[in-house]
Amino acid sequence: MITIIAGTNRQASNTLKLANYCKDQIQKKGVAADIISLTDLPDNFIVSDMYGKRSEAFQQIQDRVSASDTFLFVIPEYNGGYPGVLKTFIDACTFPDSFSGKKAALIGLSAGKYGNIRGLEHFTGIAHYFNLHILPLKLHIPTINAELDKQGNFIKENTLKFIDQQLEQLIAF
Ligand SMILES: Cc1cc2nc3c(=O)[nH]c(=O)nc-3n(C[C@H](O)[C@H](O)[C@H](O)COP(=O)(O)O)c2cc1C
Repeated sequence: MITIIAGTNRQASNTLKLANYCKDQIQKKGVAADIISLTDLPDNFIVSDMYGKRSEAFQQIQDRVSASDTFLFVIPEYNGGYPGVLKTFIDACTFPDSFSGKKAALIGLSAGKYGNIRGLEHFTGIAHYFNLHILPLKLHIPTINAELDKQGNFIKENTLKFIDQQLEQLIAF
C-alpha cells in the first residue's frame, strides 16, 4: 500500500489533481494506493490534535498513516517552500512511529518556474530528521497550469513519463 499525502488543505488544488493521477497510475501497476488529503483534516486540528490531544476524526487519519510504510508526498510551492499546514500535520502525527524507518518519494509542483525545489530540499532535511527514507529521484513540476487541460487532465507526455519513472522507483524502493 502506498499512501499519497496531498500536501495542502486548499480546496480544488492542483496538488489533489496530481495526487489522484498518481493514485490511478499506482493502481494500474497492481499496487494498492490511498490518498490522505490535508483538506480532510479536522478544521480545528491545531487545537484538537496537537501536543498530546487527539480527536476521533484525526485518529482515523493517524491510523492510516500508522498502517502505511510507503508514502508519496505531493507538495505545492507556497511562498518559496512547502505549506505550513503540511508541517503542522506532521507535528500533529505521533512521533516517532508515524514515519520512522519508512519510505517516501516527493513530487513538487508550482505555478511558477521552480517546481518547489527549495520546499522539497527543506522537506527532505526534516524527513531525514525523523528517519523517513526519501527516494533520491525527486520530481519537480513547474508551471503546473500548463500541464492541465480544461477538464483537469495531465497532457504533457514528458511529464507523465517522469511521473511513471518515479512511481516505478518508489514501488521498487
Ligand atoms: C499561499 C500560496 C502561496 C504560493 N506561493 C507560490 C510560490 O512561492 N511560488 C509559486 O510558483 N507558486 C506559488 N503559489 C501557487 C501554487 O504553486 C499553485 O497554486 C499551484 O497550483 C500549486 O498549489 P495548489 O496545489 O494549491 O494548486 C502559491 C499559492 C498559494 C495558495
